[in-house]
Amino acid sequence: MEIRKAEPFKIKMVEPIRLIPREEREKRLKEAGYNPFALRAEDVYIDLLTDSGTGAMSDRQWAALMMGDEAYAGSRSFYRLEAVAKDITGYKYIIPSHQGRGAEQVVFPNVIKSKGDYVLSNMHFDTTKAHVELAGGRAINLIHEKAFDTEKYDDFKGDFDLDKLEQFIKDNGAEKIACIVITVTCNSAGGQPVSMKNIRGVKEIADKYGLKVFLDAARYAENAYFIKMREEGYKDKSIKEIAREMFSYADGFMMSAKKDGLVNMGGLIGIKDDEELYTACRSTIVPMEGFPTYGGLSGRDMEALAVGLEEALELDYLEYRIEQVKYLGDRLREAGVPIQYPTGGHAVFVDCKKICPHIPYYQFPAQAVCNAVYIEGGVRPVEIGSFLLGRDPDTGENLESPLELMRLTIPRRVYTNRHMDVVADAVIEVFKNADKLVGLEFEYEPKVLRHFTARLRPIK
Ligand code: F0G
Repeated sequence: MEIRKAEPFKIKMVEPIRLIPREEREKRLKEAGYNPFALRAEDVYIDLLTDSGTGAMSDRQWAALMMGDEAYAGSRSFYRLEAVAKDITGYKYIIPSHQGRGAEQVVFPNVIKSKGDYVLSNMHFDTTKAHVELAGGRAINLIHEKAFDTEKYDDFKGDFDLDKLEQFIKDNGAEKIACIVITVTCNSAGGQPVSMKNIRGVKEIADKYGLKVFLDAARYAENAYFIKMREEGYKDKSIKEIAREMFSYADGFMMSAKKDGLVNMGGLIGIKDDEELYTACRSTIVPMEGFPTYGGLSGRDMEALAVGLEEALELDYLEYRIEQVKYLGDRLREAGVPIQYPTGGHAVFVDCKKICPHIPYYQFPAQAVCNAVYIEGGVRPVEIGSFLLGRDPDTGENLESPLELMRLTIPRRVYTNRHMDVVADAVIEVFKNADKLVGLEFEYEPKVLRHFTARLRPIK
């Protein structure tokens, strides 16, 4: 019998967590306006709000911090980070930024030349869409519709619909397209991977119409792992070789290093060889993020990132990582809880439209489920549905999201599968009693990005 592998690390430092009593959880949630974003983290037992910046650094990363060179210009730590990033991507130019959206605010204004130009993606993350719009562009999602059928298995639910992509370019004219952004993995569709075949297909279309391609590379290592496991021809390739091939089909990338960079704060911009774009970004970054050899990061942050980038490409680590997400997903599926299937790279997405058919979208079914899961197990999930989507800017009506999801987002190297069992037990308990859940209405609704600060109340 082959021994099943456990976590490929042992624990050297611990941070205590505590499950406060149920009555207290009820009180805290009420005080938070039934919005888990307003909870204090110390009132949360297992925090699955995000996998962004919430991972645990390794002993090698903590040791690297001591080597930080805090020179304002030309820091040794920058050159070390640059060498690692160049080695992974094969790109000529690397600029650090303070996080993913820092990279976005530098790149988009230099790529979107005229107001109203389109940026085409499988699916934009919210801040990516926001930065496209702030730069005067329009963000269009062209993901394959297989992503929306949560029950039906597909290896690569993050894929573009290539026919739709080409049709959009033909209908609107290549001169109106600023660039194409491939989000790997596709967060908003459930952390779903994009196949190499699809990435290559995007590149072919881009070349045909003379368009630039960027990777939103926040979870590129997880995407490379799925390609290795699921796509023909990649079984014997290393994760690094696969990653390099992915980057080879793009002209640049923006990366939130808070995910597959395995750091708590950081980002990167990479440009393959376009010197003009590099020069432009290098000028923009100074007033926005900082001098181009630190871009908002301290020298020690860059050292830790240089190590983290390499650790995230280790096969043992990725196997553990993806297996843990699958472990939670499998436990939920076995109990009949509907989830985006198969599970993706960083989270389990629970289909709350199916759990709470009695709650209409404008009363936020997934938010109701998230709140119940906090009460049940002290677990903090996040809503990805109509509450997050907001209102139509013209009519003021609540928009209806195609999916009402509860995201159980798993931080890297932080929780064990015992924690996942607690999460599964809490979600299953809520699922069994879901017919008793009620919808929510606003007590206070901010005008923009309402999901962060809104206050809600249950409808009696
Ligand atoms: N792109 C993707 C695909 C992301 O998931 C995120 C962040 C960003 C860009 C922005 O990066 O946070 O470093 O500025 N996603 C986090 C999440 C916040 O919870 O999914 P950032």
